[in-house]
Amino acid sequence: MSSQTPSSAVTASTARRVVVTGGARGIGAGVARRFAADGAQVVVADVLVEPGAALAAEIGGRFVELDLLAPDAADLLQHCVDLLGGIDVLVTSAGVLHLGTLLETDRALWDRVFAINTTGTFLAMQVAARSMIAAGTGGSIVAIASMAAKKGGGGEGAYAASKHAVVGLTRAGALEWGQHGVRVNAVCPGYVLTEMGADTRTPEDVALWSSYSPLGRLGQPEDVAGVVAFLASPDGSYLTGQALNVTGGMVMH
Ligand SMILES: NC(=O)c1ccc[n+]([C@@H]2O[C@H](COP(=O)([O-])OP(=O)(O)OC[C@H]3O[C@@H](n4cnc5c(N)ncnc54)[C@H](O)[C@@H]3O)[C@@H](O)[C@H]2O)c1
Repeated sequence: MSSQTPSSAVTASTARRVVVTGGARGIGAGVARRFAADGAQVVVADVLVEPGAALAAEIGGRFVELDLLAPDAADLLQHCVDLLGGIDVLVTSAGVLHLGTLLETDRALWDRVFAINTTGTFLAMQVAARSMIAAGTGGSIVAIASMAAKKGGGGEGAYAASKHAVVGLTRAGALEWGQHGVRVNAVCPGYVLTEMGADTRTPEDVALWSSYSPLGRLGQPEDVAGVVAFLASPDGSYLTGQALNVTGGMVMH
C-alpha cells in the first residue's frame, strides 16, 4: 500500500489546495464553499468573472478567469495550480447543458458541448494529475458528471454522451494514476436546482422530477458538495474509478 494518499499529503498544519472549475455558481460554488469551510485553500476558475471573483472573496480564496474553449485553457489551469503551489484536490464542475434531440443537434452544438464538458474535464484532469504525480504526494480528482451518464438522455443526447465520456475519463485516470496515489472519481448528480436548465424550468417540471426521487425532492448544490468532500477526504481513500449517483434515488445503478 502506497503511503502517497491524500490523507498523508494533508496534515493538520497544511491546508489542502483545491481547484474548482465552474466554481462561480451552482454546484461548483457549493463545492468551493464546502472546501473553504473545511479549511482548504480554494481557487475558483470560471468564465464568469463577476460571480467567480465575488465568491472567491467571500470564501477567502482566489479567482482565475478560465474559458475552457480558449486555446490557452491548459495554461490557465496550470496557473490555477501554480497559484496554490501545487494541488491536492481537483473538482471539475464546469459544464453546459444542451437540450435538443440528436436529429436537431448540429455539429457546432455537438462540438461545443464536448469541448466544454469532456475536453475541458480532460485538460483539467491532465494538468492536475501531472502536478500530483510530479509532487509525489498523490491527490484526489472528482469530476461532476451527471445521471445522464448512467441512464442516457433522450432530448439531451449530446450532453448525455459528453457525460458518459467524463465517466470514461474518470475510469481511465483511475487506472493510470492509481499507482501514484491519485484517486479519480465522478459524481453523477440528478436534478439539482441551479441556473442550469432554469430558463426552461416550470413548477410542473419540478413536481414531476421530484416525484422520481423516493425522497420527493430535487437536489441542492450542498447535497453534491458533501459527497464530493467525502470522496476527496481520507474517508474516501479506497475509492477510485467510481461514478457515484447523487440523485435522491432517481438512479440506482
Ligand atoms: N444542475 C443539474 O441538475 C445537474 C445535474 C447533473 C450534472 N450537472 C453538472 O454539474 C456541473 C455544474 O452545473 P450547475 O448545475 O452548477 O450549472 P451552472 O450553469 O450553474 O454552473 C456551470 C458552471 O460552469 C461554468 N462554465 C460554463 N462554460 C464554461 C467554460 N467554457 N469555461 C469555464 N467555465 C465554464 C459556468 O460559468 C458555470 O459557473 C455541470 O458539469 C453540469 O453538467 C448538473
